[in-house]
Amino acid sequence: MAYVFTKDLETGIAVIDSQHREIFDAMNRLADACAKGTGRQEIEKMLHFLNNYIAKHFGDEEKMHAQYNYPERIKHKNYHENFKLTVNELIKEYRTDGASIGLVGKLNSKVGMWLLNHIKREDGAFGTYLKSKNG
Ligand SMILES: [Fe+2]
Repeated sequence: MAYVFTKDLETGIAVIDSQHREIFDAMNRLADACAKGTGRQEIEKMLHFLNNYIAKHFGDEEKMHAQYNYPERIKHKNYHENFKLTVNELIKEYRTDGASIGLVGKLNSKVGMWLLNHIKREDGAFGTYLKSKNG
């Protein structure tokens, strides 16, 4: 399944939307690699990318939440923190068991699906809040 950045996923905040597109591209690179049979090599790259990406991207989002006094910011940060734990577990699994089809499956179910839902719901809600604030 390809990750398509559809209109309903846009928050209307340019920097956030472009970072979201970036993670979709990375997920698609992994899916393409799996289709070509080179998924194992791509997993390490993906986990490395993901680790750096979430630190930067969640940090940027949380800075904006604070800057605009977003009332849901504590709840939103908790979602981010839980997701970081998930990613850390996957990295640990990679370190102990190496690349596996099971790990690719988890990247799709626990990372890809989480991102889709989080972007649509939580990030979308912040986008709506910001629009209402800016009139
Ligand atoms: Fe977020």
